Amino acid sequence: MSAVRRPLIIAHRGASGSAPENTIAAFHKAVLAGANMIELDVRLTKDFHIVVHHDRNVRRTTSGKGNIWNLTLQQLRALDAGSWADPRFHRERIPTLREVMEFLLPTNVNLNIEVKTDGDPRKHTHFEECLILIIMEKKFEERALVSSFDHKFLKRIRELFPQIATGALYHPVRDVRKKPSTLCTGIGASAFICSRTQLRRRMIHDAHTHRLTVACYGVNVPQHFDKVLTLGVDAVVTDWPEKMIGRLTDSRYFSRSQHSIHHL
Ligand code: G3P
Ligand code: MG
Repeated sequence: MSAVRRPLIIAHRGASGSAPENTIAAFHKAVLAGANMIELDVRLTKDFHIVVHHDRNVRRTTSGKGNIWNLTLQQLRALDAGSWADPRFHRERIPTLREVMEFLLPTNVNLNIEVKTDGDPRKHTHFEECLILIIMEKKFEERALVSSFDHKFLKRIRELFPQIATGALYHPVRDVRKKPSTLCTGIGASAFICSRTQLRRRMIHDAHTHRLTVACYGVNVPQHFDKVLTLGVDAVVTDWPEKMIGRLTDSRYFSRSQHSIHHL
């Protein structure tokens, strides 16, 4: 493998390989590992709080059941969000986005906020406005990338608040055969994000030709890490930031320069 530019390391749902996803424990491990950025998923509760949770339903990763949009923040806060992964994480709770930002304030770790709107039957929730207000309140304008499969959401974010960088997630059915530039430019997104199995050299070429940053998720073993770096991705989204950063320290592979959040 010839020298390639050192990529940004983004911890997927925190260091979710070694701690329960989307919890403070996972974010703490990601910070300790030296990740450049943390990716987390956000949803809107019944009472319009933004919480950090991947699935629509809390069943898989908590002690409770039900869809996020039918539960209040108080109800969600009562749930154990760690034991499903390991009993020693039984104190973990579903965090709010605000809490995660407060946790990251003293660090230099940036945030990739993936907005999940799927399943929520409500209309006119003002999710975009709620998100922008929290980003402004915590002064994360320069530290946050808002990403989503919901490209209309990303477009509205940029219309309401053009200072915020956005990243378009590639949907394997809806977006099939569409170029990154086609998906990103119309909505003002500066990053294109796809999975390792979806990534093609031609996508990277198109994205870079249009000055878009390319991030790739689902990269959890060294062989896949080397492969996507050889293809030329700018950022790697991984459940194992500690392992991937360990691999980065093998400086034979990397040139000195590193991609920056400001490209996202
Ligand atoms: O970073 C993108 C990735 O998180 C998208 O998939 O299901 O893990 O949220 P998912
Ligand atoms: Mg995600």
